[in-house]
Amino acid sequence: MQNVVITGATGSVGTKVVELIGQRTKDYKIIGIAGFKNAKKLEQMAKKHKIKNIWHSDCTESKLINMVEDPAAHLIVIANSGNISLKIYKKSVKLGKKVAIASKEAIIQGGGEVMNLAKKTGAQIIPLDSEMVALTQLLQNNKNEINKIYLTCSGGPFLKQNAKFIAEVTPRTALKHPTWKMGKKISIESALWINKGYEIIEAHILFGIPLEKIEVIIHPQSYVHSIVEFKDGTSVAQLSINDMKIAINYALSSLSFDEKLSSRRLQMPSLSLINKKLEFFSPNNKTLITGINLVLKAFKNGKITDFINLSDNLIDRFLNKEIKFLDIYGALNKLVK
Ligand SMILES: NC(=O)c1ccc[n+]([C@@H]2O[C@H](COP(=O)([O-])OP(=O)(O)OC[C@H]3O[C@@H](n4cnc5c(N)ncnc54)[C@H](OP(=O)(O)O)[C@@H]3O)[C@@H](O)[C@H]2O)c1
Repeated sequence: MQNVVITGATGSVGTKVVELIGQRTKDYKIIGIAGFKNAKKLEQMAKKHKIKNIWHSDCTESKLINMVEDPAAHLIVIANSGNISLKIYKKSVKLGKKVAIASKEAIIQGGGEVMNLAKKTGAQIIPLDSEMVALTQLLQNNKNEINKIYLTCSGGPFLKQNAKFIAEVTPRTALKHPTWKMGKKISIESALWINKGYEIIEAHILFGIPLEKIEVIIHPQSYVHSIVEFKDGTSVAQLSINDMKIAINYALSSLSFDEKLSSRRLQMPSLSLINKKLEFFSPNNKTLITGINLVLKAFKNGKITDFINLSDNLIDRFLNKEIKFLDIYGALNKLVK
C-alpha cells in the first residue's frame, strides 16, 4: 500500500489523479490533499475518499509542508499552480520520496540542482505531462545514441492566424484549446506557445538532453506525444488518445514500488489509427514562435524565474481584460533583453 499526498487536487490534473488513484484502493491510500480556493470541492473529495488531511488557502504554509514531510507519505503528487510547488518539490526530493510532478514551473526552477539532489537522496522523479511521459517511455532502457528529440505541439487555437488577428483575440477564444482540456493558465501559455518553450527546458532538465537536440514539431491532432530520433536513422514515437489520464496512469505505474503495482495499470481506451489523419510540420507561425524563443532566451540569460513570475502576472491581467494578448510578449521581451 502506498500512501499519497496530492497538491492541486482540485485542479484539472489533480482531479484526474484523485479519480485514478481513488479507483485503486488496493494499491494506494490518499492521506492528504491540497487545493487552494475551491474548499467545497476539496471537502467533497475528502468525504468521498475518506481523506483526513486537507489544505487550502486559509491554512498555514507549514501545514502543507508537514503533510509532505509526514514519514507515512510515500508518494507526493505535485499538481498545483503557485510558487509553493517549488518548495514542495525540493522538500519531497530532499526527503527521498517518490515524486510525480505536473507543475513544470517547479521542474524548471528547481533545474539540475534538484535532479542531482535526487541522485543523492534516492528520490524518484516522474513527470506528469503527456510529452514528458512519452519521453520517459521512449527513453526507458535506451542504449541507442540520440540524434534529436521532437516535442509535438498542437499549435493551440491560433495556429493558422496572422499577427493582426492574434493581436485582437479575447480570453474566451484564447482559452479554447483545440485538443486538450486544461486549467486556465496553461491554456493561455499553450496559446502563446510559451508552454512549448517550458517543455523544451523540462526535457533538457529531466533527461539531460542538450537544448540544441530538442526541436518542436507541429502536430495538430495531438495523438503523437513525442518522437525520439536516433543516430542510426531509426525513430520511435509514443501515441495515445489525448487524455491526461493516460499520461497519469503510465507515470504512476512506472514508479518502482513493486512488480505487482506496476502490472496493475488501469485499462485505458486505446487509439485506433484507422482513418485518422496525422500531420506534422515545422512551427511556421511567425507571431507565435516568439513564445518559444522568449522562454529559451530567458533560460539562457538566467532569468527564467523572473520570466515565470512575470508571465503568470501578465496572463492574469490578460484574463481580466486589462491588457491585450500580444502585450504579454511585449513585456516579456523587455525582461529577457
Ligand atoms: N492541465 C493539464 O493537462 C496539464 C498538463 C501538464 C502539466 N500541467 C501543469 O500542472 C499544473 C496544474 O495545471 P492545471 O491545468 O491542473 O491547473 P488548474 O486546473 O488551474 O489547477 C491548479 C491547482 O492549483 C491550486 N492552486 C492555485 N493557486 C495556488 C496557490 N497559490 N498555491 C497552492 N495551490 C494553488 C488550485 O486550487 P483551487 O482550484 O482550489 O484554487 C488547483 O488545485 C501547472 O503547473 C500546469 O502547467 C497541466
